[in-house]
Amino acid sequence: MKLPAPSKDGRISLEKTIEKWRSVRAFAAKKLSLEQMGQLAWAAQGITSPRGYRASPSAGALYPLEIYFVTEEAVYRYIPAEHGFELHKEGDARRALSEAALGQGFVADAPLDIVIAAVYERTARKYGERSRRYVHIEVGHAGQNILLQAVALGLGAVPVGAFHDKAVAKALSLPADHEPLYIISVGYPE
Ligand SMILES: Cc1cc2nc3c(=O)[nH]c(=O)nc-3n(C[C@H](O)[C@H](O)[C@H](O)COP(=O)(O)O)c2cc1C
Repeated sequence: MKLPAPSKDGRISLEKTIEKWRSVRAFAAKKLSLEQMGQLAWAAQGITSPRGYRASPSAGALYPLEIYFVTEEAVYRYIPAEHGFELHKEGDARRALSEAALGQGFVADAPLDIVIAAVYERTARKYGERSRRYVHIEVGHAGQNILLQAVALGLGAVPVGAFHDKAVAKALSLPADHEPLYIISVGYPE
């Protein structure tokens, strides 16, 4: 599924966006549009150069992160090269994801949960033992871009680190080498 081209002109400055940041844990029952989801995906891992470099930095440009979008309808995986979503799994995985996240209810209520997973091996091939540190730094970069983009879109978001890794992987039927590192719940602030 092709996503709409991302906007490069926000209505709010970077500085005001940073100042406005606050975790939001209560969401209105209103779905996000494909434009909004595409914009969040682009902010995290969109391709921003003819050489294939992306919106957030990556050690050795090896790009170990995989981004999943969990909505009421399905779980999608973002494909940066196409700026598109690939259908990963049909159905609503948000309840199972919320249970995996120690029952944090806003994960089930949010119209969108973004799960950032990592394939450590992509970075380990070059950087060996150092690679785990690099991948963890990278998930912070991509996560921060998502959070700030959410604010710039007038949306609310909360980063979630408290979850059982295996239960998240099961809820989303992740491939064995895609290890979940971060959940970001996004929606209209209630
Ligand atoms: C790595 C990380 C993990 C977090 N995990 C959770 C979480 O599981 N549940 C939650 O409600 N908030 C979580 N938060 C959000 C923090 O509670 C929040 O950022 C902090 O209270 C500061 O508030 P602010 O984000 O509004 O500035 C997490 C934040 C980070 C950076």
